[in-house]
Amino acid sequence: SGAEAHERERFGRLTWDYFKAFIRTERFRALSHPLTETMSALGTVVILWYGTRLVLAGGALSAEEFIVFLAFSMKLYSPVKYLGKLPAIIQPGIVASERVFEFLDAPIEVQDRDGPRTFEGVREGIVFDNVSFHYREGEPVLDGISFEAPAGSVTALVGPSGAGKTTLMDLLGRFYDTTGGRILVDGIPLQEYSMTSLRHGLGIVSQETVLFHDTVRSNIAYGLPGPISDEDLEAAARAAHAHEFVSRMPKGYDTVVGERGTQLSGGQRQRIAIARAILRDPPILVLDEATSSLDSESERLVQDAVGRLLEGRTVFVIAHRLSTIQRADRILVMEAGRVIQRGSHDDLLQEGGLYRHLHDLQFQAT
Ligand SMILES: Nc1ncnc2c1ncn2[C@@H]1O[C@H](COP(=O)(O)OP(=O)(O)O)[C@@H](O)[C@H]1O
Ligand SMILES: [Mg+2]
Repeated sequence: SGAEAHERERFGRLTWDYFKAFIRTERFRALSHPLTETMSALGTVVILWYGTRLVLAGGALSAEEFIVFLAFSMKLYSPVKYLGKLPAIIQPGIVASERVFEFLDAPIEVQDRDGPRTFEGVREGIVFDNVSFHYREGEPVLDGISFEAPAGSVTALVGPSGAGKTTLMDLLGRFYDTTGGRILVDGIPLQEYSMTSLRHGLGIVSQETVLFHDTVRSNIAYGLPGPISDEDLEAAARAAHAHEFVSRMPKGYDTVVGERGTQLSGGQRQRIAIARAILRDPPILVLDEATSSLDSESERLVQDAVGRLLEGRTVFVIAHRLSTIQRADRILVMEAGRVIQRGSHDDLLQEGGLYRHLHDLQFQAT
């Protein structure tokens, strides 16, 4: 999901920061040790030379006083050397404490209530009732979103990047809970359903399809509780237009993807993800369409597979493709956390405004 991708990216960034800090302090540590050692050795030489001269010249310094001074100055070196090491000790501490505070600041995880219901499907529809959400207090990301998605319908979310489309869908999967308003499935608030049953009933086909370094078979069957028969697997792959290219691979469904020579194209990865979703057969489907366009043959196959995936489900699609948008029962145009336009494709084109603008930009309407 979007949240997971976001977390992954954030984790990657923090790890990189830590790595850089680590290298910096290691370099400093590696340099500072010989440096302080050399300095203290030089210091001793200077003191010995100057002190001996004073003692031998007579009067200015007695031999005993010089020995005492020498002993104390030696004692001074180790705290000074320690000071030199201080940054190397403190820096990782600062990085670590930043991470601790980030963890403490993170919103409380979504939890099941006592005796939750099991989500089994959508009979009437899903209602977003004045839904608001913020990740951080005072920075609203969604602001009073209301609409109804009848069971079996397709709702398209359209809008510029950062409008809150992915966040709205994350709320539907209860990756976060709404901070205002409610989401109801057949009149029952989402919080009443157990997380496990809800996540089970909600399929997500996202922009960044994650394939594991594993066989095509395992990648398609990923996340399913029981063993899958070859027939079911193949049927899903066929419906997703994946069977043809998979069976052309050296070991068919047993080919390990990601290995040299079996890199999959974007369109092929998407079709594997669609096969995965078809096999899971979730009553609610969230489709986060890829922004990047595929070659026209892949595009046609992906669109056709998506068409089959939509059938008989309550679908929400973050839509970038005209063909998907035209197929939607309703289009919500989002901007800065609000729904600013809604209707059918034709109505919205008539209406002008942001939809018309986005449409013209994206599809170079003639
Ligand atoms: N996990 C997160 N923590 C904090 N802010 C986030 C997070 N995810 C998204 N946002 C912010 O929420 C806003 C909406 O983002 P998003 O839902 O991804 O929009 P869209 O999918 O329409 O591009 C953006 O301003 C984004 O920076
Ligand atoms: Mg998004």
